[in-house]
Amino acid sequence: MEFTIKSGSPEKQRSACVVVGVFDNRKPSLSAELIDRASNGYISEIIRRGDMEGKLGATLLLHNVRGTLADRVLLVGLGKERDFRDHEFRSAIRSAVKLLNETGSYEAVLYLTEEKVKRREVAWRVEHAVVVAMEAVYRFEQLKSQPTEVRRPLRKLTLSVPQRSDLTTGEKAAAHGLAIAHGMDLARDLGNLPANVCTPTYLADRAKQLGAEFPEVQVKVLERTECEALKMGSFLSVTHGSDQSPRFIVLEYLQSQRKQAKPCVLVGKGITFDTGGISLKPGLDMDQMKFDMCGAASVLGTFRAIAEMKAQVNAVGLIPACENMPSGRATKPGDIVTSMSGQTVEVLNTDAEGRLILADALTYAERYEPEAVVDIATLTGAMVIALGHVASGLFSNNETLARALLTAGDDAYDRAWQLPLWEDYQEGLLSNFADFANIAGRAAGSITAACFLSRFTKKYNWAHLDIAGTAWKEGKEKGATGRPVPLLTTWLLAHENRVP
Ligand code: BES
Ligand code: MN
Ligand code: ZN
Repeated sequence: MEFTIKSGSPEKQRSACVVVGVFDNRKPSLSAELIDRASNGYISEIIRRGDMEGKLGATLLLHNVRGTLADRVLLVGLGKERDFRDHEFRSAIRSAVKLLNETGSYEAVLYLTEEKVKRREVAWRVEHAVVVAMEAVYRFEQLKSQPTEVRRPLRKLTLSVPQRSDLTTGEKAAAHGLAIAHGMDLARDLGNLPANVCTPTYLADRAKQLGAEFPEVQVKVLERTECEALKMGSFLSVTHGSDQSPRFIVLEYLQSQRKQAKPCVLVGKGITFDTGGISLKPGLDMDQMKFDMCGAASVLGTFRAIAEMKAQVNAVGLIPACENMPSGRATKPGDIVTSMSGQTVEVLNTDAEGRLILADALTYAERYEPEAVVDIATLTGAMVIALGHVASGLFSNNETLARALLTAGDDAYDRAWQLPLWEDYQEGLLSNFADFANIAGRAAGSITAACFLSRFTKKYNWAHLDIAGTAWKEGKEKGATGRPVPLLTTWLLAHENRVP
């Protein structure tokens, strides 16, 4: 979809559709009032008759409204004016775009971006309008033999800003939003692909493709023998049961104007399918374990976004990718493996494999002397129980870093919530036979998983995002969400040309 920015009166737009808001209690927005005046009170008449009450997300499509130059006027309910915040703004845009995409207009001018949103400037509104619009029209149909046909899909959206002096800001914000949306599209596509297509090799090929499309992204792929030479015994122990060979993907994007700026490292869990291994998972919903590489996908998506924006940051992406399968060669409960850090781990449960592959990637990250390392992983089912599908779990050994990530998540409407990493939680990992075990008891499973990771992150500032509840949706809308690409991109952008 194409986006442009414009400033001007709604009644004067020559367009297939002009979109204006109506607040709850039948209060037209400023732009709806302008249409009302031009049409001699047609809008207020409709509102008076009760056809548009302004409930959040309600829509009413009008044709040939007198006094306007557009073919259609779409009224969108905005809810109560004083409650109009991030969530309401995004819902209104989503409803409008979904409706536009299903009706005859292949182009429209959106006035909702002129509405005031508490604590948010015009740049925020434009960026989010673009992201939400792209999210709303996303479809994954590459594997259907007969893709469902959209008669006249929405091709072009013009976003209106209050003043001419907002145009430049608006254009930059739209470009940012589009880059984030493209990153999310990539993450969603990779997540949605089944595990018989999206193998470790396939992920590595898509990373190389990204490097070919954006030469600023340097891509290196390590194969099994190279991982063996690095003594990545923990990572490799997870691959033993699989016939798919593992890949360790390294992305480097070094574009900070300060050449000595230390990089931010993103580490993404890339389990292309998680059967649980010998500690086999139950059958119900096991198909969803194709999404167990969504952390990896979010790293690739974030690199796509910052490369498209030409962000002036230094970032490194690390993706350990493999399958977790049972077989005669698979790792068994009780097996002891030696990680790249030299620490030994008793694998009491082969289904706690994410932390095993992340451990070696986190040790590999040390060579960059990073400013910060953030890992992103669909790590624990317990995370879904704790925070549901709204917030990702955040853990960190550094409060400043944690604060920065929480703020980025808030600004990007891709929120995270911090959980404790207190020493008291570490004791569950005690092992009688190795340095420690890969699982603790059932209690606080997400925290003890983070505790396990913390044993490999002593040398730098580190945060862990458990995205088990946020990376994909279940049920009717089953599919990858592209989260947390918006959070990660927003966080990285905050490092642009920062003077230390
Ligand atoms: N990939 C899963 C976590 C997961 C499960 C995410 C369900 C989303 C939905 C992870 O590898 C796993 O299996 N974790 C185990 C850990 C346990 C064995 C300590 C879990 O959460 O059950
Ligand atoms: Mn598992
Ligand atoms: Zn897993």
